[in-house]
Amino acid sequence: MENDNELEKLQGRLSELKKQGTMASSFVEDKMGAAQPVDRQKVTSKTAEGSEARQKKAIIPTGPVGLDVGTSHIIAACKDRNHIDTYKQLNAFFTLPKSNFARNILSKNDILHFEMGNHFYIYGYSAQEFALMFHVNTRRSIKKGLLSAEEKDSIYVVQAAVNSLIQPPKQFGETLCFATPGEPLQGTGSLVYHESILKRFLTGMGYTPISINEGMAVVLAELSDYDYTGIGISMGGGMCNVCVSYLSFPVITFSIQKAGDYIDSMVGLSVDEPATKIQSIKEKNFDMLKEPKDRISTALHIFYEDVIHSLLKSLQRILSSSEHLPMISKPMPIVLSGGTAMPAGCEEKFQKILQSYDMPIQIEGVHIAKDPLNATAKGALIMALTEVTE
Ligand SMILES: Nc1ncnc2c1ncn2[C@@H]1O[C@H](COP(=O)(O)OP(=O)(O)O)[C@@H](O)[C@H]1O
Ligand SMILES: [Mg+2]
Repeated sequence: MENDNELEKLQGRLSELKKQGTMASSFVEDKMGAAQPVDRQKVTSKTAEGSEARQKKAIIPTGPVGLDVGTSHIIAACKDRNHIDTYKQLNAFFTLPKSNFARNILSKNDILHFEMGNHFYIYGYSAQEFALMFHVNTRRSIKKGLLSAEEKDSIYVVQAAVNSLIQPPKQFGETLCFATPGEPLQGTGSLVYHESILKRFLTGMGYTPISINEGMAVVLAELSDYDYTGIGISMGGGMCNVCVSYLSFPVITFSIQKAGDYIDSMVGLSVDEPATKIQSIKEKNFDMLKEPKDRISTALHIFYEDVIHSLLKSLQRILSSSEHLPMISKPMPIVLSGGTAMPAGCEEKFQKILQSYDMPIQIEGVHIAKDPLNATAKGALIMALTEVTE
């Protein structure tokens, strides 16, 4: 192995920064210069093959866990010696009225489901496969980043999906760090409710849950080279989460409820096509640097730019009005993660639009996360590991 204790080093450095920070009462310019360069993070990730399949047995964590409960996916991250393993489940479901016939089909085909009231709840990747077969739409337990108020059973679906990835820990009271969104600037849903409900459920499973802001988790996963100083942005399905971090402290956090789902539905409405079709085209063929050649790609360009403008406009407004802005001498990097940051050319497009904004802090550049879909879960795991060693 090239470096057996990379993750430990990373945690050590993070703890050090945290201690330094608790002693400092304010953010001062020379702290940035005083900070030691940190080793390049070489944490590897292997997504457990088949963890997306329905019958893979949930793991029993033997150490701290990082958890990302997103609008589209639920991802758990665990440490295995010197690398991070991630396990993923689709956060979707639909219901079928109970019948013996349906029960037989579900069990025979190993389809992930549970029974409640008069219904079977089919969830995860199974829901997607089954919904395609039956020509029905799947439903979402998380809408725009928060537990859906429209789906009263949403927490049970989240529980079932989490249980399909991780079982109760080997050691009762194991630390689990889960990502929570920043307060939406305008929008719907209660962050307090979302966080408290998840905490109760995770405590019930035998974990000691702690929460971390999603943008902060991205900074922990991606900005070790910058001493965790920079702007972490997670562009997912339901929302974009932003965190301005200074030496691993979240100075400013917020979210906007515009992201991948918004692009799909707005493009769909504009060209009169179903959002699911748009989503599939967007994920397979969309290149942000290529000139649009038809109505759909033109509309995709328009709404992608709309999301990036909304993000940067909010960031500019909040940075300009903040009293807590760190006085740092070095320009800050921006790191983009999440599925919505994945199309080719996203980095360049973001950088280009950024040039039209006069930001109150200097930006060093825009980077795409090394592993955009797993950055939040990995950052949450790094936080969980750090809490344990303190
Ligand atoms: N290769 C891709 N290109 C463009 N968009 C993608 C790609 N892969 C996933 N997405 C989009 O990313 C969003 C989901 O991102 P994810 O980070 O999993 O979200 P969440 O954090 O909300 O669970 C969806 O809107 C999906 O369509
Ligand atoms: Mg996410």
